[in-house]
Amino acid sequence: MKEIENAIVACESLGELDKIRVSLFGKKGHFAAQFEALKKLEGDAKKEFAQTLNVTKEKFLDLLNEKKSALEAIMIESEMKKSSVDVTLFNQESSAGALHPVMDTMDKIIEYFVSMNFSIEEGPLVEDDFHNFEALNLPKYHPARDMQDTFYFKDSMLLRTHTSPVQIRTMLKQSAPIRMICPGAVFRRDFDITHTPMFHQVEGLVVDKAGKVSFAHLKFILEDFLKYMFGDVKVRFRPSFFPFTEPSAEADISCIFCKGEGCRVCSHTGWLEVLGCGVVDPNVFKAVGYKDVSGYAFGLGVERFAMLLHQIPDLRSLFEGDLRLLEQFK
Ligand code: PHE
Repeated sequence: MKEIENAIVACESLGELDKIRVSLFGKKGHFAAQFEALKKLEGDAKKEFAQTLNVTKEKFLDLLNEKKSALEAIMIESEMKKSSVDVTLFNQESSAGALHPVMDTMDKIIEYFVSMNFSIEEGPLVEDDFHNFEALNLPKYHPARDMQDTFYFKDSMLLRTHTSPVQIRTMLKQSAPIRMICPGAVFRRDFDITHTPMFHQVEGLVVDKAGKVSFAHLKFILEDFLKYMFGDVKVRFRPSFFPFTEPSAEADISCIFCKGEGCRVCSHTGWLEVLGCGVVDPNVFKAVGYKDVSGYAFGLGVERFAMLLHQIPDLRSLFEGDLRLLEQFK
């Protein structure tokens, strides 16, 4: 019996254990035979034998049950290790983010101009007076400097008030022909429902041999671009003024809300102003040492485009990081 006891202790599988159980408690097993033998005894001998037999039987039943529980526990443990799902983990439905409406609009604008073979240029956010003003035909004390109330640092450095300095940097870096856009952040001392101290512009500049680039090219590309952005709108060019372009214009689209009938958004004019543009002023070419060239330039505010495209009433809400606004752009 000691042998069987050892076998139970050493047993490594439930199947093996069951075989031992049958050999002990089965119809033809050890205890069945012992109880047969018991029948043949009498008196005290029978009593004594019966007692020992019951004790042994109990002992082996306990041993078998104990081992069975232990083996089952090991099995469950190894099963759990094999499967990688942790059912106790807290399951929160995962949610994907989305591009901020300003970046999304910026991407759409960039996509158009890249498809039209424009390169993408960059410039620093902290600019000097020369690139931001002087070279763009805005000499010191020029009243037009007030159009863009500026954040100044010491030693005449400043936060760029528009992306136009990148025109200058690009022309100083390379020679004509140039066909570039510059998307990026700009800064002005302004804060109300339609102005924030930081916003984004996309600048455009095309320069080629004198006579090869005209206002007609500018009109064509901007009209095509605005229809790409806003769908079936009318486009008109209104005379305007910028120190770095001559002639200068502002482009309007027919109001996308009232289709030109006149509403609150377009101040009942039927038109929405969307960008500034013009033929590059000769003084700008002089500042960068370009000769015998002509060109056009334009600049637009990305937030204004985003507001119009998504009917966002307050520009400031674009920068508050309120998830209730952002989640509407998934
Ligand atoms: N820099 C101008 C602005 O910030 C926009 C502009 C760019 C106008 C290029 C004409 C040509 O308002």
